[in-house]
Amino acid sequence: MAQIIGSYFTSHVPSIGAAIARDLQKEAYWSPFFDGLIPVRRWLSEQQPDVAVVFYNDHGLNFFLDTLPTFAVGAAETYANADEGWGLPVQPSFTGHRNLSWHIIENLVADEFDITMCQQMNVDHAVVVPFQLAYPQASVWPLRIVPIAINTVQHPLPSARRCLALGRAVGKALRSWPGSERIVVMGTGGLSHQLEGERAGHINNAYDLFCLNNIKDNPGALTHHSALDLVELAGTQGVEILNWIAARGALGDAPLRQQSRNYHIPISNTAAATLVLEPIGN
Ligand code: DHB
Ligand code: FE
Repeated sequence: MAQIIGSYFTSHVPSIGAAIARDLQKEAYWSPFFDGLIPVRRWLSEQQPDVAVVFYNDHGLNFFLDTLPTFAVGAAETYANADEGWGLPVQPSFTGHRNLSWHIIENLVADEFDITMCQQMNVDHAVVVPFQLAYPQASVWPLRIVPIAINTVQHPLPSARRCLALGRAVGKALRSWPGSERIVVMGTGGLSHQLEGERAGHINNAYDLFCLNNIKDNPGALTHHSALDLVELAGTQGVEILNWIAARGALGDAPLRQQSRNYHIPISNTAAATLVLEPIGN
């Protein structure tokens, strides 16, 4: 039987990719963030996942404002990265897991989630940066991926409650997958940040800590805010917490242990966080 080994959550700020390209990980500005990845890498190397199901948001590389699905599930053979205009080196493509993608899609549609299925999909920094952080030496990614994009860009956004339900349905699908893969669930983006407008630079330490303190044992607490409340609380891009909420949903009801947690302000404009949760029975 397939096993969900746990969930790795991280911010996905593009300048992290630039810092990696310039080898700045040990500099004073960067080390409080990069040091938080050491236990994540150790956990992944112990756990050896074969496949990652990645909840993230596309920022205009694959979907643009003219056609923006609320929930999109990748079912591609490969997922290429491409130049997004941040000046980042383009990263190696990811190999997909089409059979698992279709299993997830079939189960989500049966559970009445009207998702978009994507047999072609490019992945931006929101997928690439978390893998660069997790596997810094890799020239070939050591696991396959199923990317699931949530619209956190163009309003109306899905509610936090709906994202938790989506994640729970994905988790249910994973638990019914007959393969023997070890599966890591990922949620990328956040925590609080706002890149534009009068409130550019907005960070909400209290709300971030509320999320970090509740997501393990009480994820429902994160669903009591509307999408517009989330903008107010977390900032226009801080709504990326929706990806974390969905990823948490996929872990289901099993009691969880916090393997590692890091929170540091700021990385670029973002309150940057990293968290690993795993089922206690594992
Ligand atoms: C930043 C953060 C993001 O989540 C993103 O997608 C782009 C930029 C930032 O803080 O610079
Ligand atoms: Fe982002």
